[in-house]
Amino acid sequence: MLLNRRVVVTGAGSGIGKAIVKRFLKEGACVLAVVRKPEQVEEFASHKDFSFVVGDVNDYSTNELAVTSAIKKWGGLDVMIANAGVWDFFKKLQKMSVTELEDGFSQIMSTNVKAVLMAAHASYSELNKTNGCLITTGSNACFRPGGGGPLYTASKYALRGIVGQLALDFAPNVRVCGVAPGATDTPISGTDALNQRQKSMNSDRSRLDSMGQHIPLGRVSSPEEHTDLYVMLASANGARYITGTVLVSDGGLTAGQ
Ligand SMILES: NC(=O)c1ccc[n+]([C@@H]2O[C@H](COP(=O)([O-])OP(=O)(O)OC[C@H]3O[C@@H](n4cnc5c(N)ncnc54)[C@H](O)[C@@H]3O)[C@@H](O)[C@H]2O)c1
Repeated sequence: MLLNRRVVVTGAGSGIGKAIVKRFLKEGACVLAVVRKPEQVEEFASHKDFSFVVGDVNDYSTNELAVTSAIKKWGGLDVMIANAGVWDFFKKLQKMSVTELEDGFSQIMSTNVKAVLMAAHASYSELNKTNGCLITTGSNACFRPGGGGPLYTASKYALRGIVGQLALDFAPNVRVCGVAPGATDTPISGTDALNQRQKSMNSDRSRLDSMGQHIPLGRVSSPEEHTDLYVMLASANGARYITGTVLVSDGGLTAGQ
């Protein structure tokens, strides 16, 4: 379904991003992964349609390098997937020091919001040429409180606004959409500011089990279970009339709220 589609995926070294890389390669896409460390994508290294860059998405230069590398390698770019993100482990405002609030806000908004704008900025002119699309990874926290603390929720609500605004601004040549996963079994971590860099969500199985109990389908999802939506949105024909929307893949989590 994605034969020869030229795609950049950020946050591709683990979790949902890595599942997207694997699925997109299987679907015939050419994939450039943005990762923190090369060893995160060792398993794809020998694939003829795979490439990667190492960097921090909070730096504009990383986003730019990803786009220029894809163009250099494959002659253009059809899909930019701004997926990298950090969580806040439900950190409550009243439990933050002022410094944690100030720095936590900056770091979470930088990765979850500003980096998406930078990915969009760096890729727009190429996507405009190819009638391509920008896809972001949202969250159930784009729609309802309770998917994190106030910093994460603020970042994902902002992201939903960006999807709508850029869909207007980039139309008619570039579609802009999001996928909103619910609780997913990944090692998502947090920020230095909240002292959560070393934490990882799926290292605590009891947290995942308890999250699963609040989901109508009775469990958290695997990263792979969201990839159908990315394939559909990224395909040349699958989503020609879809833009400005965030598609939910959350086991019914937001349905009852
Ligand atoms: N896991 C969940 O329950 C869940 C639920 C809803 C939404 N999401 C969203 O899914 C997306 C992917 O997260 P995941 O759950 O797969 O977690 P993950 O930690 O496995 O993947 C996120 C990736 O982003 C990378 N990353 C983070 N900050 C970066 C930076 N500054 N520069 C470069 N790379 C950076 C990490 O190294 C990691 O590989 C995020 O946007 C997250 O908010 C996750």
